[in-house]
Amino acid sequence: MQIEATIAGLKAKRRELNGSVGLVPTMGALHEGHLSLIRAAKNACDWVIATIFVNPTQFGPTEDLGKYPRTFEADCTLLEREGVALLFAPDATEMYPEGETTRVVVGPVAERLDGASRPGHFTGVATIVAKLFHIAGPDKAFFGQKDAAQVAVLRQMVRDLNFNVELVVEPIVREPDGLAMSSRNRYLSSVERKQSLALSGALAAAVTAYSGGERHASSLLSRAQKVLDAAEGVRVDYLALVDAQTLLPLDEAEPGALLAVAAYVGLTRLIDNRLL
Ligand code: PAJ
Repeated sequence: MQIEATIAGLKAKRRELNGSVGLVPTMGALHEGHLSLIRAAKNACDWVIATIFVNPTQFGPTEDLGKYPRTFEADCTLLEREGVALLFAPDATEMYPEGETTRVVVGPVAERLDGASRPGHFTGVATIVAKLFHIAGPDKAFFGQKDAAQVAVLRQMVRDLNFNVELVVEPIVREPDGLAMSSRNRYLSSVERKQSLALSGALAAAVTAYSGGERHASSLLSRAQKVLDAAEGVRVDYLALVDAQTLLPLDEAEPGALLAVAAYVGLTRLIDNRLL
């Protein structure tokens, strides 16, 4: 695996690749969720370019940018083992040099769910992903359903800005007990780790009701809310049934609707979702 830290270097290596290129953007601290994207890219494309960059513009002033887990050596071992051709791992000044000012502001969809709780977050995400698309020139780019609102925002951006990139979305990879894998799970104490099961449990309760024929959003959400209320140490940020593309709330559940939750377990903000 070749590791590139500069934009010029990555562009030069990219030009040498013949055949299709799959891009997997990450912030590192890699786990099986990330690796599922790498494997999907490997299956679908001749070459895989992975990126590791903890993107400062998508963190709010009081968020965890400073303490975000950084495990670069271990990440490289995992990527190497998966057969990644090229890793782009720039530093912050390479991506945001002195004097840069341009941002990609996607619009209303970027202000819903996580975009409402984390103002400016999706402007940071869209800006870095647009830059990575320009630098890596992929045919396909792979993202996780775990970040459902991020997927909606990036689909809107690709459509509006006419990127020649196909977005491929892969299912959520979970721990055996149901917790969605996340780099932030490392923050959880053993007590919080147990409490965190309230998120997947709440979604499962609503999905069970949906499978039983319940369609009213208010009933489905109250099933989920009950599970969250019963869990100690869990503070809900949002719990919503929305259209998966627009992220606007639905009154009635329909196939393809997105049931999404974000909650703090202790100081750690976790997200999870299920597509109906
Ligand atoms: P990060 O949180 O590192 O996630 C990188 C990719 O892995 C995202 O597409 C995310 O949805 C996916 N992913 C994370 N956990 C997953 C899981 N349990 N199952 C399946 N996929 C999972 O998302 C970001 O980084 C950043 O916002 C980024 C897109 C890299 C822009 O900075």
